[in-house]
Amino acid sequence: MLSIEQNPKTIADCLLSGNEKLTAAGIDDPRLDVRLLLAEAISKETSYLFGYPEKVLSNEEIDRFQVMINKRLKREPVSKIIGRKEFWSLNFKVSRDTLDPRPDSETLIEAVLEGVSDTTQPIKILDLGTGTGCLLLALLSEFDAAQGLGIDISDKALAVAKGNATSLGLSSRVSFQAGNWCEGLESGWDIIISNPPYIGLDEKKALAPEVLNYDPDLALFAENNGMRDYQMLIPQAAVILNEGGMLVIEAGQGQADGINALMADAGLVISTPKKDLGGIHRACIGRKSI
Ligand SMILES: C[S@@+](CC[C@H](N)C(=O)[O-])C[C@H]1O[C@@H](n2cnc3c(N)ncnc32)[C@H](O)[C@@H]1O
Repeated sequence: MLSIEQNPKTIADCLLSGNEKLTAAGIDDPRLDVRLLLAEAISKETSYLFGYPEKVLSNEEIDRFQVMINKRLKREPVSKIIGRKEFWSLNFKVSRDTLDPRPDSETLIEAVLEGVSDTTQPIKILDLGTGTGCLLLALLSEFDAAQGLGIDISDKALAVAKGNATSLGLSSRVSFQAGNWCEGLESGWDIIISNPPYIGLDEKKALAPEVLNYDPDLALFAENNGMRDYQMLIPQAAVILNEGGMLVIEAGQGQADGINALMADAGLVISTPKKDLGGIHRACIGRKSI
């Protein structure tokens, strides 16, 4: 039996020791987390770990890994520890000022792609509450001739989004600006997409510490049982949407009917919301009729 708890030396030791610590702390299925953290600590791909389990690591590499494991023990998400998260197969820098991109939000990208058949058109896309820029930049990666604008109330989030646009090679087709939903924006948008804050204040206690303590409140919570920002932005977005344009909004669980009602009140034609992989109505879709 290895005395790895005191003295891990190899890749295999570190994987075992990390798994034991995170399991003991009640973190479910920690193996992927441990692999991602160790790969980051030694600046390799995770596949390297499987190829070289007996590789002896330097003290610096082991120290870096242990610092990361200690952060994970405090329930900091892996994405925040390593500073990036994958979305739509693209790499996004994340920070304490941005919501981590969620796989469920990819449903919005799918909904847009299903609604706009020709991806070569020079369309204009507006993203309200852009955060890391993940929705807008994922769309721009699909629509080669599109231009985009990302709005956020957080300057620090906007700085992260700009960095992501640069690292993804999309900065020539996108700009970002500070704002409060659609205030002051001109009309002329073919696609408006938004994943606004939608968690009701009374749901705070039920959130995992990874979310509550490490995603910004500004990205999470909305008054009126989570409906407040939908109520603000949907009527505004409907006004500046082009005729024939599409508004796609992320819904929290059980919120799709309320969002559809707001879209209908704003004069949009509603489609059936698109479900995420968990079967939840995630992407609400409204079109401005011609
Ligand atoms: C749920 S996060 C979504 C981030 C990103 N679009 C995504 O899907 O991962 C909501 C974003 O809305 C921004 N936000 C909150 N209130 C806003 C407002 N009044 N106007 C513009 N952006 C706002 C937050 O700063 C946050 O970045």
